[in-house]
Amino acid sequence: MGKERIDKIIAAQGRHSRSQVRELCRKGLVTVNGRVVKDPGEKADQEQDEIVAAGEPVAGATIYLMMNKPAGVVSASRDPREKTVVDLVPEGLRRRGLFPAGRLDKDTVGFVLITNDGQFAHRILSPKRHVPKTYEALVAGGPDEETVRAFAAGMALEDGTLCRPAELTLLRPGDPALVRVVLREGMYHQIKRMFLCLGCEVVWLKRTHIGGLALDDTLAPGECREILTKEKEKIL
Ligand code: URA
Repeated sequence: MGKERIDKIIAAQGRHSRSQVRELCRKGLVTVNGRVVKDPGEKADQEQDEIVAAGEPVAGATIYLMMNKPAGVVSASRDPREKTVVDLVPEGLRRRGLFPAGRLDKDTVGFVLITNDGQFAHRILSPKRHVPKTYEALVAGGPDEETVRAFAAGMALEDGTLCRPAELTLLRPGDPALVRVVLREGMYHQIKRMFLCLGCEVVWLKRTHIGGLALDDTLAPGECREILTKEKEKIL
């Protein structure tokens, strides 16, 4: 987006007029990255700089990214030791406040939605909304029709936690077998734990869809792109 005059950026939020912004600046009530800015004509980048006017942070534009998460990176914004999915976002798509909406395990690959829109993330993750998440997995130990029925019935995990009914489809037999799982909730290591309880082991796991939106299969592991408005509607 680039740099713009600070009075223009703040006034565009609709809370203060241009002349009120000038007054706020004069009173020392506008900061950019913690530094008081007295000149309303000074330029800043709304996406990169932290602008605060009269104690209120000025929001950057929202952005929604689809990433094909590779194995070996963690689903977090920052981590002192590990590489995160947000570290992989290229410079041109980087915005303030990006975070992954939901977590995949470090060794799980596939669709991670990265955004700076907390409300939208909440709607995807809220257990009340039941937004389905679809996974493909390679599972050792012979998942069969009985496993499918156990998933559909809503099973208890090893610690007694109850899972909602989940869809399991056997796609290709073998050891490991290829399966599809659709969950409407997201507990810690949920799919791995569900299979373990039934004597099976997940050896590879990929998230392929969030709601009705499929991961773009042209994205190489570690790549991401913006989600288009019409694609965003498919998520919820
Ligand atoms: N279930 C798991 O076990 N791991 C994930 O990363 C996602 C769902």
